[in-house]
Amino acid sequence: MRVALFSGSVYGTAEDVARHAAKQLEAAGHSCYFDPRGDLTALLAHHPQALLGVTSTTGMGEIPDNLLPLYSELRDNLPAALRGLPGGVIGLGDSSYSDSFCAGGELLAELFEELGIRQIQPMLRLDASESVTPEADAEPWLEAFARALAE
Ligand SMILES: Cc1cc2nc3c(=O)[nH]c(=O)nc-3n(C[C@H](O)[C@H](O)[C@H](O)COP(=O)(O)O)c2cc1C
Repeated sequence: MRVALFSGSVYGTAEDVARHAAKQLEAAGHSCYFDPRGDLTALLAHHPQALLGVTSTTGMGEIPDNLLPLYSELRDNLPAALRGLPGGVIGLGDSSYSDSFCAGGELLAELFEELGIRQIQPMLRLDASESVTPEADAEPWLEAFARALAE
């Protein structure tokens, strides 16, 4: 499947996880588009058949600034081409922010609902206070995601 990935990141961790995810999905036989600075036009030009959003949380439960333009474009346009596609969300956060743990990922999951994207498995939450190896920690979830897409 053609999978479009995008990321929201302040310090680069979520971007690294997205890049690692693209490699893993490619190794599983999918073809990936990931441009951390890509906009909606570029994303749609790749005619995605599935979507994977990876985002950290900043501020008091907010989406990182670098994802806001694409997030707003998606919400304002609700592109029909994405409706019904399979998708998934990986949220990075820190459970010491107990009230807003992975709230950025939750905002993205809500947007996927609005877009009509079917999340084929529950959002993965990567906790910076539990682990310092988010890329490796995402691998089992991605393996299941890649398999579900191939079915
Ligand atoms: C200023 C700041 C605010 C943060 N706010 C939250 C938050 O509200 N909820 C949460 O779960 N994590 C929060 N985090 C933790 C980050 O989401 C987490 O460390 C993540 O791994 C950073 O990924 P990034 O490098 O892609 O931005 C915050 C981190 C910083 C530095």
